[in-house]
Amino acid sequence: MSQVAEAAAALRQLGAPTIEIGLILGTGLCEVADSLEERLIIPYGDIPHFQTPTAIGHHGRITIGRLNGIVVAALQGRCHLYEGIAPARLAFPVRVLAAIGMQTLVVTNAAGGLRPGLEVGDLLILSDHLNMMFANPLIGPHDASCGPMFPDMSAPYDRELAEKAITASRIHQIPATRGVYAAVSGPTYETRAEMRMYRQLGADAIGMSTVPEVLAAARLGIKVLGISTITNLCNPDMVDQTSGEAVAHAAAGAAPRVARLLRECLTPCNRAATC
Ligand code: HPA
Repeated sequence: MSQVAEAAAALRQLGAPTIEIGLILGTGLCEVADSLEERLIIPYGDIPHFQTPTAIGHHGRITIGRLNGIVVAALQGRCHLYEGIAPARLAFPVRVLAAIGMQTLVVTNAAGGLRPGLEVGDLLILSDHLNMMFANPLIGPHDASCGPMFPDMSAPYDRELAEKAITASRIHQIPATRGVYAAVSGPTYETRAEMRMYRQLGADAIGMSTVPEVLAAARLGIKVLGISTITNLCNPDMVDQTSGEAVAHAAAGAAPRVARLLRECLTPCNRAATC
């Protein structure tokens, strides 16, 4: 049995139902899962081959529950390249969620705001990304069960879901705009020269996660909604010092807005093309 199949079988044995939506909760955002109903909590340590994160603001457990009646599996915390994890391992949780039924993946993260006008606490609905990690989790011997060898990346973020998120944010007065996320390996934050460079390259926000999981989902043909919480401003001419604690604190402050946005835009209508 493959490692993915073993992990999926263990989840089933621990009571996991077939899920529809996978939700990856990044730094400081773990409590978004508290808004799920009928929760089943499984520590990553109980799932074979699942790695427990070592970074601040990441719990290391799966909460499965219902949101608007839809079965959601929320990963409360993720692993990162900067923890010394091999890129291919970063795709593993996405593949396991797909093996228990996931059709839509919602990825969240804490990010530095590069675009002038962004404020701490704003949400950025991802329209696209720049992979500046210089790593790709899909590198490896081809396994047809994971999808095509050369996945198309012309639209990795589902336009309809992003539109729904933007509409919900307007109706419920949650500050949110669309934008491009640049993923870097970390663990260092950016120098001022790097901030200028990433801005010139077209990034609106920058962080150390998300893209590996989005690449894995794209290969599997899974729809993706990406949400960054802006936790600090990367203004090269007026920069404040940044720390992991400050980032986690700012993200935790935005968690109720992320939960609200998800409640408003993830509805059973996402399931069927007829809605
Ligand atoms: N840079 C990179 N990663 C981050 C940042 C940042 O400014 N803020 C939160 N994650």
